[in-house]
Amino acid sequence: MAVTVPIAVETMRLADIAAVHEIERLSFTTPWPAYAFEQELTANRLARYVVARAGSSVVGFGGVWLMVDEAHVTTIGVHPDWRRQGVGRRLLVALIDLSEELRASRVTLEVRASNLGAQALYAELGFEVAGRRTHYYTDDGEDALVMTTPALRSPAMRHHVALARERASHIAGGAE
Ligand SMILES: CC(C)(COP(=O)(O)OP(=O)(O)OC[C@H]1O[C@@H](n2cnc3c(N)ncnc32)[C@H](O)[C@@H]1OP(=O)(O)O)[C@@H](O)C(=O)NCCC(=O)NCCS
Repeated sequence: MAVTVPIAVETMRLADIAAVHEIERLSFTTPWPAYAFEQELTANRLARYVVARAGSSVVGFGGVWLMVDEAHVTTIGVHPDWRRQGVGRRLLVALIDLSEELRASRVTLEVRASNLGAQALYAELGFEVAGRRTHYYTDDGEDALVMTTPALRSPAMRHHVALARERASHIAGGAE
């Protein structure tokens, strides 16, 4: 389905938390409580969170933490009604841009071993599997794959991001 409403990626605000929490609830087996987002926005100066808006509705969100010189994607989610329309790609490009702003050298994340859709999105942005954490997820004991980008300033990474931006520019709202 083509996106017909412009999508904007913007800094998450406290007023967005209820909508973000609803997407969390629809997306994850152990969603973060709403107060965790409030903490992140108000008390964690090494965290950055964004939302994707379609008109005035929040349709996706994501965040990074700066850990030493690496950025770590803490979460990314898109409302089920808005998936496979390029919103996750837009969010991930925005998180990579924020990571560069935070002077991170690369970006890492953990993803469920079975979450092939998310892994495909990450691979498109240059993430590669760097390791495996066995029984990482406490709800069902599933393993996590650790995925990491090449150096953000490397030609390979610039190429991945430029291609993703180009793809994102074909959906309403355009690239960031
Ligand atoms: C993972 C997630 C954020 C992707 O968001 P999205 O908006 O649907 O992703 P996009 O439309 O931007 O996808 C970009 C590309 O990623 C890949 N991709 C995304 N979802 C995919 C899926 N379910 N299956 C296969 N490939 C997928 C495709 O290559 C896709 O490009 P294409 O649609 O042109 O083929 C979304 O599915 C989601 O919120 N899932 C539940 C929460 C979750 O798993 N978060 C990640 C935790 S680590």
